[in-house]
Amino acid sequence: MIADLETAALSLAVDDHAGQEWCAANGYAGYTSYGSLNDLPWRMPPFKALAKRLDAHVAVFAEQAGFALGDRPLALDSLWVNVLPKGAGHSGHIHPNSVVSGTLYVAMPKGASPLKLEDPRLPLMMCAPPRRKDAAQALQSFVYLTPAPGEVVLWESWLRHEAPPHGGKSPRISVSFNYRWG
Ligand SMILES: [Fe+2]
Repeated sequence: MIADLETAALSLAVDDHAGQEWCAANGYAGYTSYGSLNDLPWRMPPFKALAKRLDAHVAVFAEQAGFALGDRPLALDSLWVNVLPKGAGHSGHIHPNSVVSGTLYVAMPKGASPLKLEDPRLPLMMCAPPRRKDAAQALQSFVYLTPAPGEVVLWESWLRHEAPPHGGKSPRISVSFNYRWG
């Protein structure tokens, strides 16, 4: 599946002219289908297979998060690819109007930038001292993850995150997605 997704993402980066225009107009220094294609699971079979697997992962996440969802399970809302050449990144942001967000890592070449997660309490820390580098991960102001291809990372959509500038020679490729409630 990962090889198929890589092929699909790279072909989209070449063929999706509306997406290329969106990236240029929005200062995205690579390619994303975020602004141009909202039907990848319908359009290309590898994304359909991925969506089915993600549904299962997100259901487990919702259970472990203790969400009281009633009879409205979380549902895939949007899914898009990201192809970042060397030097490109995506500055800190959240995913509004969603409950669970995440990324599947498809290509993480040597020098690939990590996923940077930010402690959501930072704006409230008026006098808090910085944390020691050896403090537990859950106490750090920023957590850096470098997932391997095939790994999925899920988080609640309010969590601010960032892809710092990519340092690898070949593109850093990922598929990101949002799940909404009901
Ligand atoms: Fe994001």
